[in-house]
Amino acid sequence: SQTPVKVAVTGAAGQIGYSLLFRIASGALLGPDTPVELRLLEITPALKALEGVVMELDDCAFPTLAGVQIGDDAEKVFDGVNHALLVGARPRGPGMERGDLLEANGGIFAPQGKALNKVAADDVHITVTGNPANTNALIAMSNAPDIPTSQFSALTRLDHNRAISQLAAKLDVPVTEIKKMTIWGNHSATQYPDLFHAEVSGRNAAETVNDQQWLADTFIPTVAKRGAAIIEARGASSAASAASATIDHARTWVEGTAEGDWVSMAVRSDGSYGVEEGLISSFPVTVKDGQWSIVQGLDIDEFSRGRIDATVKELAEERDAVKELGLI
Ligand code: NAI
Repeated sequence: SQTPVKVAVTGAAGQIGYSLLFRIASGALLGPDTPVELRLLEITPALKALEGVVMELDDCAFPTLAGVQIGDDAEKVFDGVNHALLVGARPRGPGMERGDLLEANGGIFAPQGKALNKVAADDVHITVTGNPANTNALIAMSNAPDIPTSQFSALTRLDHNRAISQLAAKLDVPVTEIKKMTIWGNHSATQYPDLFHAEVSGRNAAETVNDQQWLADTFIPTVAKRGAAIIEARGASSAASAASATIDHARTWVEGTAEGDWVSMAVRSDGSYGVEEGLISSFPVTVKDGQWSIVQGLDIDEFSRGRIDATVKELAEERDAVKELGLI
C-alpha cells in the first residue's frame, strides 16, 4: 500500500485545529486516494484535550487517515514530515505590546524552525497560519538554514478568499467567476486587497465595479478588518474559515494553480514590485510542480503603490523588531 504523507499541525488542540484536522483526515488536502498520517504538536497542558480530539478522529473512521501521533516535542512530531502547518501561536494578551508579542512568538517559531531543519523531510512545505503569520514565517525560515527558503510561506489565502467573496457579493456573481485576486503585503489590517488586476468573468474587476469610493472605503477595509468583525459577532476569532483557507493554500501548493488564474501567498520576496528582498510578503503567485513563482510584470498605479508600500513598511518594522531581539 501507499506510504502515507505526513502532515504536521501545531496548535492542534486549538480552535482552528478542531476544524482543520478533520478536513485533512477526510482527504480535503491530499485527495481521496492518498493516505495521510497526522503529526500533532501541542504544549504539554493541552495534550489531554488533544487526546480527546484524537478520540474523535478515531471515531470518524476516515478511510484516508493512516495514523495519528501527538506530542509536545517538536523534534519527534516533525520527524519526516512532508507538510508542516504551523497554526499554534501566542495570541496578544491584554496590555501586551507588539514587541512582547513578537518575542513570545519568536520563542515558538525559532525552535520550531530549528526542529524542522533537523528532522523534516527534504520536500517539506511549511505554512504559517499562527499570527503574526508573516513574521513568524520569517523567524522559522531564518532558523532553518538547510531548508530552501522557497519551502516557507505564510497564509494570506483567508484574506484572498474574503476578497473574492466580497467582490462576488457586490457584483452578484458566483465566486467561480472571479480570478486573479491578489492580497499584497502583511496578513494584518495594512494588507492590500487589489482589484486592479482581478478579473470578473474575464473582465477587469476594478473597471467592472467602476466605483473607486466603494473600492477604497468599503471593499478594502471590509476585507482587512473582517477578522475583527468575526470576533465581534462570534465572540471568538475565525476558525473554520481559517482552517479552510489553510487547506486551500497547502492544496494549491501541491496541485498547482489553474491555467489563467493565480492565488495569494506570503513568500520570501526576491525584490519583486519593490518589496524589500527577504521579507515574507503576500504576492500574486502561480504554482507548478510544487514550486511557486511571483507573477511578474503587473502595472502598479499610484493608488496601489501607496498601499503596497504601507503594508511592506509594517513588515520591515516587524522584521527589524525581531532582528533586534536576536530571533533572526
Ligand atoms: P487557539 O488559541 O484556539 O489555539 C492555539 C493553540 O496553539 C492552543 O491550543 C495552544 O495550546 C497551541 N500552542 C501554543 N503554543 C504552542 C507551541 N509552542 N507549540 C504547539 N502548540 C502551541 O487559536 P486559533 O483560533 O486556533 O488560532 C491559531 C492562530 O491562528 C492564532 O495565532 C490566530 O491569530 C491565527 N489565525 C490566523 C489567520 C490567518 O489568516 N493567517 C486567521 C485566523 C487565525
